[in-house]
Amino acid sequence: MTEYIKFIFEGKTFEFPVVIGTEGEKALDIGSLRNKTGIITLDPGYANTGSCTSDITFMDGEKGILRYRGIPIEQLAEYSSFRETAYLLIHGELPTENKLKRFSVMLNDHSPVHEDMQYFFRNFPRASHPMGILSSMVTALRSFYPELPDMEDEVDTTVTRLLSKIRTLAAMSYKISKGHKVVYPRPDLPYCANFLNMMFDSPVRPYEIHEDVVKALNIFWILHADHEQNCSTSAVRLVGSGKVSLYAAISAGIAALWGPLHGGANQAVIEMLEKLAAQGTDVKQLVARAKDKNDPFRLMGFGHRVYKTYDPRAKIMKATCDKLLTQFNINDPLLDLAKALEEVASTDDYFISHNLYPNVDFYSGIVLRTIGIPTNMFTVMFAIGRLPGWIAQWKESMDESQWKLGRPRQIYTGPVERDFVPIEKRS
Ligand code: SDX
Repeated sequence: MTEYIKFIFEGKTFEFPVVIGTEGEKALDIGSLRNKTGIITLDPGYANTGSCTSDITFMDGEKGILRYRGIPIEQLAEYSSFRETAYLLIHGELPTENKLKRFSVMLNDHSPVHEDMQYFFRNFPRASHPMGILSSMVTALRSFYPELPDMEDEVDTTVTRLLSKIRTLAAMSYKISKGHKVVYPRPDLPYCANFLNMMFDSPVRPYEIHEDVVKALNIFWILHADHEQNCSTSAVRLVGSGKVSLYAAISAGIAALWGPLHGGANQAVIEMLEKLAAQGTDVKQLVARAKDKNDPFRLMGFGHRVYKTYDPRAKIMKATCDKLLTQFNINDPLLDLAKALEEVASTDDYFISHNLYPNVDFYSGIVLRTIGIPTNMFTVMFAIGRLPGWIAQWKESMDESQWKLGRPRQIYTGPVERDFVPIEKRS
């Protein structure tokens, strides 16, 4: 039975239906608000505003729950692979053995990129940030792979092309930035191992693929694969709503992810820890700075718009850190610093009262450092992980029943009507 919310405005009573999700979340459906009342809602940052209904990912920020298509992130990290999780997000169900085999073959078939794309890489200034390169190159893919006439084929082919080629583009960008020989994808290697080989193999020193590193990378990408309507996913949906190509929508998502408040936080955390280590600053002093309203400094990797408890991904990432460093007998001082920071913050009244806990970015950089990924590529790694989620969300938003051009309204607060003043009369 539909519930309603009533309110009185300018002496009139209005009522609007309440939408209830499968997990009991409730939303006021204001689709007819302006037509009925002449007013709109105002919610900068959209903290109280749902942009869509979605079947893909469920988060409970108070309980620290994250599920992809109903499956808890803890189980996926433990038992699944990134390829399988990508299939689950995009198609809605875990693949049968045959479907996973076909998906893997398609990913391998699409892993090479057009040779001419190397000219693009070789002409970026050496200091270019890999996220800027990746966003440009994903858009460039559209020029090399124009849309197929049949929309169904197009979506399936483009989805697999993107999932596969994004690894090749990232690794190629890294090799060329180092002046090293590009390593091509190998059809005999699965998704994560293929990426590691493209990144680190070289004629002078063949790369030895460690199962522990492959497992850690699978977990890293599974943890990043989707996160409902975050900033970059909302960018993908909004840009996609204009019916642009998937490449253009994903390129917008990459650009949105780049910022230090969002996906760029994993790079910012490591830079914060490295600075802390170099300057010998006391962790208590850093936590004090983070609380000081006169200091713009924030504790990177802490806090979240949705999670008001420990980010379940951070827990798994921290355990992956410990396991990987132990397996390779590495003692990373930055991990000790991160744990010391977490210890101080977790007992600090300000952090407790503001519900500030480590998020996915707090420990993720230490996993990437251990694997050998350069710091300026950390957010590229986040983007590769998030790609299946962006694709799933884009597909869902392009479904005819959901599709609507995204165009928010505003409340104007500028000057009221006034006349043009000729330049000679201006003071
Ligand atoms: C990601 O949305 C997603 O799902 C994102 C993501 C995903 O998977 O897609 O999870 C990935 O982006 C994780 C977040 C990575 N960013 C960081 O680690 C950067 C540091 N964190 C913050 O900047 C902040 O916590 C945000 C941006 C993440 C969330 O901020 P909100 O929800 O906009 O809240 P806010 O900035 O209004 O802060 C509320 C209060 C403020 O204090 P008051 O003015 O109310 O007293 O909390 C304080 C803030 O000053 N605060 C912090 C803090 N984060 C919030 N104070 C110190 N250090 C921090 N990190």
